[in-house]
Amino acid sequence: MYFYGTFPEDFTWGVSSSAHQIEGGWDADGKGPSIWDNFTHVPGNVNNNDTGDIACDSYNKVEEDIYMLRALGVKNYRFSLSWPRIFPTGRNNSINSYGVAYYNRLIDGLIANNITPIVTLYHWDLPQALQDIGGWESNELIDLFDSFADFCFQTFGDRVKFWITINEPNVISRLGYGNGLFPPNVKEPGSAPYRVAHILLKAHARVYHTYDDKYRASQGGVIALCPFISWAEPKTPSDPRDIEAADRYLQFLVGWFTHPIFKNGDYPEVMKWKVGNRSELQNLPSSRLPVFTAEEREYIRGTADVFCFNTYSAKIVSHSTTRLRPFSYEYDQEVSVTVDSSWPSSALSDHRPVAWGLRRVLNWIKEEYGNPPIYIIENGVGKKAKSDIDDNARIFYYKTYIDEALKAYKVDGVNLKGYNAWSLMDNFEWVDGYDPRFGLHQIDFDNPNRPRTPKRSAVYYAEIIRNNGRAHLHHHQL
Ligand code: NOJ
Repeated sequence: MYFYGTFPEDFTWGVSSSAHQIEGGWDADGKGPSIWDNFTHVPGNVNNNDTGDIACDSYNKVEEDIYMLRALGVKNYRFSLSWPRIFPTGRNNSINSYGVAYYNRLIDGLIANNITPIVTLYHWDLPQALQDIGGWESNELIDLFDSFADFCFQTFGDRVKFWITINEPNVISRLGYGNGLFPPNVKEPGSAPYRVAHILLKAHARVYHTYDDKYRASQGGVIALCPFISWAEPKTPSDPRDIEAADRYLQFLVGWFTHPIFKNGDYPEVMKWKVGNRSELQNLPSSRLPVFTAEEREYIRGTADVFCFNTYSAKIVSHSTTRLRPFSYEYDQEVSVTVDSSWPSSALSDHRPVAWGLRRVLNWIKEEYGNPPIYIIENGVGKKAKSDIDDNARIFYYKTYIDEALKAYKVDGVNLKGYNAWSLMDNFEWVDGYDPRFGLHQIDFDNPNRPRTPKRSAVYYAEIIRNNGRAHLHHHQL
């Protein structure tokens, strides 16, 4: 059923992007290489051997990007800062003033047009120099990330009032260190993701406290992290074991990071129990899931001012009846679930739209974490098509997802504050290269000028924004 209504006046509509996916200029003006630059330069790693070397050339197109944002009428733009563009070696003894100037131009341009910047500090493009000392498997990264964040607060915080520390830490942990699909391509699903997540959580908390201690009083912004969430629907809703399995799936996927932050500084009980138990069956001396000290729990608890997340689709989950195999780190075995389709095998493409799943995710967050203010930071759909200017499927996607978000707000009382579409424009979709495409604007990647053209979905989204959630145009009428 379609629900007619509008969001509150102060609802914040936006679009999202990330540095490595749009900027290009991979070695321009002294930028250092990131792990993604190096990974994409090895033939065979990325679909079609695509790279982000030029991408949308946003490094040279601040004006063009702002033009699109103005045409959409967005209230905010969520983008990320490339750590190696600002600190080429990852450390604050190598500040690249050209990189700083680029982000100042972008931020000033946004402010001049009344567009609020939402800035991600880390969207996967780790400076290679820091990977060389162990990357996120090294505790040193906690200090180094903090020193980068501190510089960004000091440099941009007079104008940036909404910070995201880490984009999709759960995807980094699983795809970077579990199945090894993303750089640094570590394939140790039983242990490395847990170790890395432990460090990412500490790094996030450190940065939060730096903001709190040094900048909040004078700058007055908010800061959060941004996990990836897929709604998990129990296969047989009348079977309590499936309900439990679906919740267990969400705890392993999301609670992993948000339970410590929004609850008690510690991992979900079911994770501690499951991983601990399976480790014991393996005769390991301790759980593969690391343990926080009381001091660390106190330090991590409460380190997010708002609840941000990205979502694209949903999964059907049931209780696993396969024989317990403690030595299999296959994700479903570890969680004791069966999933209709397994963890995204290549990035996040070919997802089915399950709009009602968004309403359920929002209600789950509300119930689980006591109705925090929520921002949907990424939502959208990728299509395998070189040109999809007439993107009716994308319009359908946005129409139904935004309507379910509206129901969650109006009918269910979810404290939803904002909605961002992924993405402003077609861009580099990680290991999938330039196919599929998620943009509201089409980019012609064969043309060196990278011309930007609005798709029908851009016109539709602008209409939604103008009417604060209500779209008079129906997708089939466009
Ligand atoms: C997840 C990531 O944050 C973003 O970088 C990616 O392009 C989209 N979602 C779509 O897969």
